[in-house]
Amino acid sequence: MKKLIVIMIIVILGSCSKAVENKVAPISLTEISGLSLWNRISAETDYKTYSYWPGHEGIQPGQAPHGVYHQIYINRVLAEALPVKKRIAGNGTIIVKENFTNEKILDSITVMAKVKDFNPEAGDWFWAKYSPEGDVQAEGAPGGCISCHEGMEDNDFIIIRMLDAELK
Ligand code: HEC
Repeated sequence: MKKLIVIMIIVILGSCSKAVENKVAPISLTEISGLSLWNRISAETDYKTYSYWPGHEGIQPGQAPHGVYHQIYINRVLAEALPVKKRIAGNGTIIVKENFTNEKILDSITVMAKVKDFNPEAGDWFWAKYSPEGDVQAEGAPGGCISCHEGMEDNDFIIIRMLDAELK
């Protein structure tokens, strides 16, 4: 019986630690890697519990080179800050984009994470691409990701929505 109670407490504490996403400190410059970011969005917090970008909920048609369809999640740091008048996402912001095939099968996961001092020339974003199982396919400051997203430099490299757009 005692054992059972201990196990139950561990399970409850475990699920709590996932739920309090806003209490998790942003990943720092010394900790950031494709692996630690995957751990953050899959184990320490579950990105599927993050919000959708307001006005862009659920599966939406996307553009090349990302999937034919996508679904974009934003963590609390960004969700609670929107709309952001100066169009700069705060340290600790995480944007997770699930990319789907034409048949709506998950094909890859692309992530932008704001890490203080990581890459000041390009908005301090740490970029990563994963297989659906979490294998790292790209990480860091890949020229490919940045060269395309920098068209939206005045929106902090974010393409899908203006940071200062009024919420409906
Ligand atoms: C050739 C252009 C291009 C390249 C290269 C590219 N992206 Fe994107 N990305 C887009 C477009 C366009 C969107 C808007 C959503 C859509 O239409 O699919 C987007 C959206 C995103 C988003 C959602 C937030 C936002 O900016 O709208 C993330 C996260 C993202 N991309 C990550 C990446 C990562 C990581 C890489 C590199 C591995 C990458 N992207 C490479 C064009 C690109």
